[in-house]
Amino acid sequence: MKQKLTTSNLKWFSLMNAINCSGLKNMILLFSSKKRNPMTKLNTSKWTKYKLLRKSSKLSVHLPKTAWLRKSSFWRMIKKYREIIIKPTGSYGGNGVIRIKKMDSSTYEIQDGAKKKNFTEHTQLNAYIKKKAGKNNIIQQRIPLATVNDRPFDLRVMVQRRLNSPWEVTGKLAKVAGKGFIVTNIRMSSGKVVSVEHALKNSALKTMRAADLLSQLDKVALQAAQKLAPFYPWVRTMGIDMAFDKEGNVWIIEVNFAPMLELFLKLKDKSMFHKMKSFHKNKPNK
Ligand SMILES: Nc1ncnc2c1ncn2[C@@H]1O[C@H](COP(=O)(O)OP(=O)(O)O)[C@@H](O)[C@H]1O
Ligand SMILES: [Mg+2]
Repeated sequence: MKQKLTTSNLKWFSLMNAINCSGLKNMILLFSSKKRNPMTKLNTSKWTKYKLLRKSSKLSVHLPKTAWLRKSSFWRMIKKYREIIIKPTGSYGGNGVIRIKKMDSSTYEIQDGAKKKNFTEHTQLNAYIKKKAGKNNIIQQRIPLATVNDRPFDLRVMVQRRLNSPWEVTGKLAKVAGKGFIVTNIRMSSGKVVSVEHALKNSALKTMRAADLLSQLDKVALQAAQKLAPFYPWVRTMGIDMAFDKEGNVWIIEVNFAPMLELFLKLKDKSMFHKMKSFHKNKPNK
């Protein structure tokens, strides 16, 4: 079900942000909603995390514009961005992620998996969106991802912390989409994991300084983790899907709280995997 951050909750967020005491802040936040059972945790859907992240002006510039899918938001966004992504708010693995591109005034190309089809009638498209809108989807501006051999890639950036220690970036890799896919999820698209350095060197971004791109990536990843952490105090590992567009700008696609560390075993260098594992040992509060 679509879960709202109510106005009263938002008031609490701002009030509590003024009080620099995250423990107290989280307790009050989690217990403040009239509707929410105090024992239930804050919703971890893509939509809820997006709404928390976009409240930071530093982060909002790195977030693709996103809305809850409705017929009205669809027409507004497709007109504005020409290429959009629709995806379930509570899903993972690239399931249900589709792309719609406006080709000309009456033709829209829909890509689902590796399959593409054209709709040339608004009524066809309206019926399609109506069906999707009934199923808790969000709609997002599609970021023109940088490519390796014409295949889009994005990055998995792992951010972790130990109890009472700051967040650290403990590993990153690039996921290159399988042939014909726009999602980079490895299983779904039969994609390929490569090192971030390899992806950058083999993309149009090779003319830019990799060190600068990566430090910008780490900075945004840490800011995102720090922004979400107070609302999800039990989370110690975040796997953030991030991307560079063709101009080298950094984007946050989604933040995962239960990322698969095993993805890192696909890299030749296993040191990141072992480092990440070490954070999972002797997990407190579990
Ligand atoms: N706004 C977007 N712009 C470009 N590509 C996107 C966008 N949203 C999703 N994708 C592609 O689809 C993949 C899956 O989307 P994601 O939001 O990570 O959902 P999931 O939980 O299914 O992994 C991403 O890793 C990325 O390759
Ligand atoms: Mg993902």
